Amino acid sequence: MPLLKLLHFASLLCWCGTLLYLPALIAAGTRRSDRLFYRDHAHLTRMVFTLIGTPAALLAIGSGTALFLRDGTLGGWLIMKLTAVTGMALCHALCGVLVLHIERDPERSVTRQCMALGVAIPVLIAVTLWLVLAKPF
Ligand code: HEM
Repeated sequence: MPLLKLLHFASLLCWCGTLLYLPALIAAGTRRSDRLFYRDHAHLTRMVFTLIGTPAALLAIGSGTALFLRDGTLGGWLIMKLTAVTGMALCHALCGVLVLHIERDPERSVTRQCMALGVAIPVLIAVTLWLVLAKPF
């Protein structure tokens, strides 16, 4: 497999994996969450976000852009895919905002925001994968 595509896949796996995991990690980091699940782990959450999620997102987007520039690929599916990826990047940024929230105000519940992200993220990932694998347009 060409190295650039391999890099794209490897970074995607890390980015998508982190995005799927982060809402639950953030929700469990507030003092208002279920006692059983509560851990004072704002530091761990920030590390997952800054040391794994963000570099993987930058690599995924960078390698995708390099693939596009190298092969000159263009089609309706790519435009739609980039729209879905923009949604993923927005969810990533919102996770960052929630990480800051639980650090500054651990008493405030962020369960609803995390649940919304927990639904939006898998949907956006599935739509992106469908667009790139089925190329319906
Ligand atoms: C700005 C971000 C991105 C850009 C510019 C981009 C661009 C591209 C390009 C040009 C290809 C080659 C397509 C082909 O040769 O058929 C590709 C392949 C692929 N991308 Fe991305 N991509 C990005 C992000 C993502 C994301 C977030 C996902 C998944 C959630 C993803 C999943 C894939 C997959 C599965 C392939 C392999 C398709 C195949 O070989 O048939 N990409 N990407």
